[in-house]
Amino acid sequence: MKRIFLVLYITIAAIELRAQSIEKILPLIPKPKTIKIDKGAFVLNNLTVILSDKNSFEAKYLKECIQNYFGFDLSITEQYVKDASIISLSLAIPDTTVFDKEAYQLLISPERISISAAATNGLFYGIQTFLQLLPLEKNKEIKVGCVNIIDAPKYKWRGMHLDVCRHFFPKEFVKKYIDYLALYKMNTFHWHLTDDQGWRIEIAKYPKLTEIGGWRNGSMVGHYNENRIDTIKYGGYYSQDDVKEIVAYATERHINVVPEIEFPGHAMAAISAYPKYSCTGGPFEVATTWGVFDDVFCPKEETFTFLEGVLSEVIELFPSQYIHIGGDECPKTRWKTCKNCQSVIKREGLKDEDELQSYFITRLEKFVNSKGRKIIGWDEILDGGLAPNAAVMSWRGTKGGIEAAKQKHFVVMTPGSHCYFDHYQGEPKNEPIAIGGFTTVEKVYSYQPTPKELSADESKYILGAQGNVWTEYINLPENVEYMALPRMAALAEVVWGTADVKAYKDFEKRLTKHFDVLDYKRVNYSKSIYQITNKVSANKDKSGILLSLETSFDSNNIKYSFDDQPLDMNSLNYSTPLNIQKNNQIKLAYFENGKQKSALIEQAFYISKSTGKNISLKFNASEKYSSGNPFTLVNGVRGDSIRRQSDWLGFRVNNLEATIDLEKSTAFSKVKLNFLKDPANWIHYPKLIEILASEDGKNFKTIGGLSGEAIKTMKGKVEIEFPIQNAQYVKIIAVHSGKILEGNPGAGSDSWLFVDEILID
Ligand code: ACM
Ligand code: ZN
Repeated sequence: MKRIFLVLYITIAAIELRAQSIEKILPLIPKPKTIKIDKGAFVLNNLTVILSDKNSFEAKYLKECIQNYFGFDLSITEQYVKDASIISLSLAIPDTTVFDKEAYQLLISPERISISAAATNGLFYGIQTFLQLLPLEKNKEIKVGCVNIIDAPKYKWRGMHLDVCRHFFPKEFVKKYIDYLALYKMNTFHWHLTDDQGWRIEIAKYPKLTEIGGWRNGSMVGHYNENRIDTIKYGGYYSQDDVKEIVAYATERHINVVPEIEFPGHAMAAISAYPKYSCTGGPFEVATTWGVFDDVFCPKEETFTFLEGVLSEVIELFPSQYIHIGGDECPKTRWKTCKNCQSVIKREGLKDEDELQSYFITRLEKFVNSKGRKIIGWDEILDGGLAPNAAVMSWRGTKGGIEAAKQKHFVVMTPGSHCYFDHYQGEPKNEPIAIGGFTTVEKVYSYQPTPKELSADESKYILGAQGNVWTEYINLPENVEYMALPRMAALAEVVWGTADVKAYKDFEKRLTKHFDVLDYKRVNYSKSIYQITNKVSANKDKSGILLSLETSFDSNNIKYSFDDQPLDMNSLNYSTPLNIQKNNQIKLAYFENGKQKSALIEQAFYISKSTGKNISLKFNASEKYSSGNPFTLVNGVRGDSIRRQSDWLGFRVNNLEATIDLEKSTAFSKVKLNFLKDPANWIHYPKLIEILASEDGKNFKTIGGLSGEAIKTMKGKVEIEFPIQNAQYVKIIAVHSGKILEGNPGAGSDSWLFVDEILID
């Protein structure tokens, strides 16, 4: 009996598979659990009717989408209409144990489209799947191929976060963001509403939170490393009416909005408005730089009253079961010397400041629980002991999540490695400035939310996963779109439970088709999956470099042009590595069917007498930067002072001592070198530079040099000139600055020496 059943099942599976491979790929994301493609098509036109409860939001939503796409004005009817083509929405599947409220069936036959589910959640997802099947071209009649899709998600928490504190985004964009979540069947919007740089939600009882805390007197310009701040007043907030409108909008789309109100840390905006809730009493200013600040909430009675007042209003506004209380990155500096804090530690018999943090959170957890809600916090809330009913959001890797699940607490996984969408998603040189990191679409797609370390029982505590969009470097709605998409699409398939790492290419194919939808909606998504990687090596006679280009698609579809030539369909097609023998600016992009698919890449090459030559180092460079490869210094590409992941060599402790073999006795009179200075990251200029020359590679004589003072004056862009020399070998010594001086970050530790491109002319 069992065996027969198995054989039958395999046969059906084989037919399904064959049907899929002969049909074109369905651009469905997230991929449904089961798809069966049938023969024939349903014809959608102006006469199609939607058979549904008239008051159903889902029916109205479907009607509106079809109207927007094709201009058809479908009527919604509760009565069966004879001979009409019908899209029926029905809450018809009775067995809710098999069909949970997010499950649905989408059955498209030539006569009828039927979307059925046990709850409106499932109907909404069935509609999303149906919409993704529609072609984009407008026509009087739209043909939709027949399918039978039965689908349900794996994880309960399928989330996206948005930080509206570092930068503020208007209500209209927040709704658009919610639309993107809906498109991918995500069901949780984590709204990061308070932080050091701005308090963004109106609280009636404490109006100064937004009057004062909603505005800052400047913002960082460029990367944190540049340490530049403008003086432009910046801010904004959502009124309670705005919040209600957004929550209602999300709720209709089956998205739960989880508000985050941060404590005890990341509180500068709050204590700028109400300094009495800090340890020192202030005064403070809303932060104008990014980072972590020592001034935080002080656990005195008035602070608890204040936070309870805030939470009461928040709970009224948000129906969410979970209220996010932050809990991350709270320095204990002030608490250690605050009389009040120390007296609370004593009074409560606490061991240390970590336990004081736990006390702080547990007290407010009790308050939230008393209102029938639960708290969730970043994984630091494990420090000093987890509050009894708290859920944990694991961001510092997966360790916190594992620990919490073992303690039988619910967990949302959001590790920086896979779920931080403020990281770079392509070669940093070709991307807008980001905080750092490197998280490609493929990497997101490979994520498995349930840690292998957990037993089956413990795994039940993993609610799901979430992508985080922190906005220090994301100041406009279109930039949020760029960072969130398409990584959100990859994560959506992960949390829906149908992602298969081995089938990434299949996902990529669906994604590139799906880009047409994003183009249609004018979304500024990232095209980094088409990214072109370029490798440089010495050319044959070492007179310049060879540039090889590659994409994970078809490298023959790369087009390029030099200098002022425009890049378009008529530009040259890449086929073999390009020989570059003079200073050049190259433009590159990936094209398909005459359309530019990737972003435009521009790369400058600096060719001198040293480019492509053999170079050796007396002391190895750190493997961390450019793999420590000495060729980095003569590869024709200059290091970028902001995006430093490549093209620089870093030396810790040791001097740079590089010898370049010019192949034959060569005349030259100038050496150019680039050094980086960034004290915040422990990078300092060298103390001294010396240039030596030799004809035999053994006996060197000094031909030039530069003092530390001169290096500073030249701001690291060093040019050393001397009378014309003839030599085959040139040696460059840059003396490491040694230990970091007092008054600098990392004082007393070994500094870094960062150097790039040695040009000899
Ligand atoms: C966080 O990224 N500080 C949670
Ligand atoms: Zn205190």
